[in-house]
Amino acid sequence: MGAVSEEQKQAENRARPTTEEFRAFVKDGWAPRRPTVTAPAPASTYAAARRARLSAAYPGERLVIPAGGLKVRTNDTDYVFRPHTAFAYLTGLGADREPDAVLVLEPLEGGGHEAILYFRPLAERDSDEFFADTRYGEFWVGARPTIEDIELELGVTGAHIDQFADAAAKDAGALTIRLVRDADRDLTRTLDAARVANGAVEEGLEEADDALAHALSHARMVKDEFEIEALQEAVDATEIGFEAVIADLPAALAASRGERWVEGVFGLHARHQGNGVGYDSICASGDHANTLHWIKNTGDIHEGDLLLLDAGVEVDALYTADVTRTLPVSGTFTQAQREIYDAVYAAQEAGIAAVRPGAKFSDIHAAAIRVIAERLHAWGLLPEGVTVEDTLDTEHGQYHRRWMVHGTSHHLGLDVHDCALATREEYMDAVLEPGMVLTVEPGLYFKADDLLAPERFRGIGVRIEDDIVVTADGCRNLSAGMPRTAAAVEAWIAAVQAR
Ligand code: GLY
Ligand code: MN
Ligand code: MN
Repeated sequence: MGAVSEEQKQAENRARPTTEEFRAFVKDGWAPRRPTVTAPAPASTYAAARRARLSAAYPGERLVIPAGGLKVRTNDTDYVFRPHTAFAYLTGLGADREPDAVLVLEPLEGGGHEAILYFRPLAERDSDEFFADTRYGEFWVGARPTIEDIELELGVTGAHIDQFADAAAKDAGALTIRLVRDADRDLTRTLDAARVANGAVEEGLEEADDALAHALSHARMVKDEFEIEALQEAVDATEIGFEAVIADLPAALAASRGERWVEGVFGLHARHQGNGVGYDSICASGDHANTLHWIKNTGDIHEGDLLLLDAGVEVDALYTADVTRTLPVSGTFTQAQREIYDAVYAAQEAGIAAVRPGAKFSDIHAAAIRVIAERLHAWGLLPEGVTVEDTLDTEHGQYHRRWMVHGTSHHLGLDVHDCALATREEYMDAVLEPGMVLTVEPGLYFKADDLLAPERFRGIGVRIEDDIVVTADGCRNLSAGMPRTAAAVEAWIAAVQAR
């Protein structure tokens, strides 16, 4: 028997007596199981097409894509499970499925691959796992799928996870095996050793694996129909969350730590509408808006302030929205707030106008940042004698970055910052294609203690962020349902609060 871990020891001090009599009694007298899956998942055909493309790119190779495992949060309590993005993309599984599972694309003799999902199928009711296993048992976490369920749901071959280790490493000397390494560290360590023990050459293993991870990240850049639909659902759910926050602004203002109130209201709807938030919500009021990733959300919200809310619902299929609105919490912008807001809006309009097939990804930032630079110049904030062209100079300028240090766009999908392993040529320098989904999110941030900012601007931060899909002849704003101009935002707040 293996060593007893600290967490098991702690669980033992609360163990109940398990008698033979109880063991026999608990396993018997249950109605026949009803199947948990009755039809293929809508994502399954799209996932099959994604696997087919991968299969064509790696003929004769074995590809191993783990979901990852449960992670301990505190002693015997795990975080909610979220599968690795590459696994979700290639299986179509979302939400909290399927801890410890591994997708293997096994090369076939005549070409192509068989997709095999190794996973921990539902244990029979005459097993101890059924009632005794707090991490996986049906009594504790509910029924998991059977092999038949998975085969029907996903259109792959199902297999027990116990068969994975031998199957994954066999013939390692004779064929290339590539593994997505960052999904499951324990599995990576074990499979590395097994590959070498079965004849693989150690040098170059990691490099070959990294090439697969890169290919899988880049493969997600152009979204299919299912993905665009899922992103639209995520955005629509996000709109519900934003409107709930607006409706409850009076309560957030009345409460201490109003930012947390906002986080909670958005989180309620994110969890209700979808799987949860796609990233920690930034609920930043007043000067906190100038901290780009303000996720502590510990601040009070005061009358007259702006609330920068950057939040997105992740749907069950794991696609996430990423939207920012900067809201005057008392219903109307002050003159200084509006001046800044209008500048950011103009920059965003310029950025969105640059989104079309054939343009470069970097054109979006170039268009938006030019407007930012022009406004900063017109306000007299750039150093003496520095022109707009001077500051836009990438070798010797960039003064404007003091007030907008971040980029304008990123790809959006299963990850909020999607396709992160694509190269610069494939990302920043790439030509936009229909089906790409990206954010356009300029901002201006004047910290309360920024002595170079006009006093009336100090403590004001504004960002406007929308989710845009490239179409055949331009682009479509998935988040167009959420008003953006200063006047429309004021009218939106009034209308939502009057409901
Ligand atoms: N919420 C992070 C971002 O906008 O990229
Ligand atoms: Mn955002
Ligand atoms: Mn973003």
